[in-house]
Amino acid sequence: LVLTQDELKKIAAYKAVEFVTSGMVVGLGTGSTSKHAVDRLGELLRQGVLTDIVGIPTSKRTHEQALSLDIPLSDIETHPVLDLAIDGADEVDPEMNLVKGRGGSLLREKMIECASKKFVVIVDESKLVDYIGGSGLAMPVEIVPFCWKFTLHMLQSLFQEADCVAKLRTSSETGEPYVTDNSNYIIDLYFKKNIGDLKAAGDAMLRLPGVVEHGLFLGMATTVIVAGKLGVTVKNK
Ligand code: A5P
Repeated sequence: LVLTQDELKKIAAYKAVEFVTSGMVVGLGTGSTSKHAVDRLGELLRQGVLTDIVGIPTSKRTHEQALSLDIPLSDIETHPVLDLAIDGADEVDPEMNLVKGRGGSLLREKMIECASKKFVVIVDESKLVDYIGGSGLAMPVEIVPFCWKFTLHMLQSLFQEADCVAKLRTSSETGEPYVTDNSNYIIDLYFKKNIGDLKAAGDAMLRLPGVVEHGLFLGMATTVIVAGKLGVTVKNK
């Protein structure tokens, strides 16, 4: 039996929902893996297996999905402390540091997941990397639209030593800049070399005035659930 990547995502997602108990305030992630978790949560609520759940969506997309499933929703102004958040990731390193935001929702994800007592990350094994940047795929940074080329150049020169190429994310259909839920743009950073000290890299990005937030989620995950061809592993901090 060969499982597809989507089936693996679903296995990880369902496993994470096992950590949810009635009465919890739960952060609802964004992306194709989280989508399965939100579906499952809706199903368990409908069946009455779970009750009194409050969901805090990390994007407009997830908000819509959760609404369609009748999951009661709130926000971090009303519920500043979450019991648990469940979300996918683009990269997970051996220390459980993450890259997130390929789906474009990194800012709301970070705000909500930082407010959660537990943060359960759900991935299929293709997301595991030896070091952050190791997938060769993008590291997203949310920036303000004002003079975005200036910020793009600043970001690229910040990571000159890592042979960084910075690209504005555009919509594949229109070619127009991709606009986030917060009306910002996304710069995708591609590194040819290791970026080194992750904390220093994150702090340096945040010091650039046009940068709103970056997709490095360092020391935030408390659990990582990995679904692979040989089974599911649950790693705790
Ligand atoms: C959304 O902005 C992202 O952070 C997603 O959580 C991440 O891109 C993982 O997405 P998939 O589950 O679709 O791979």
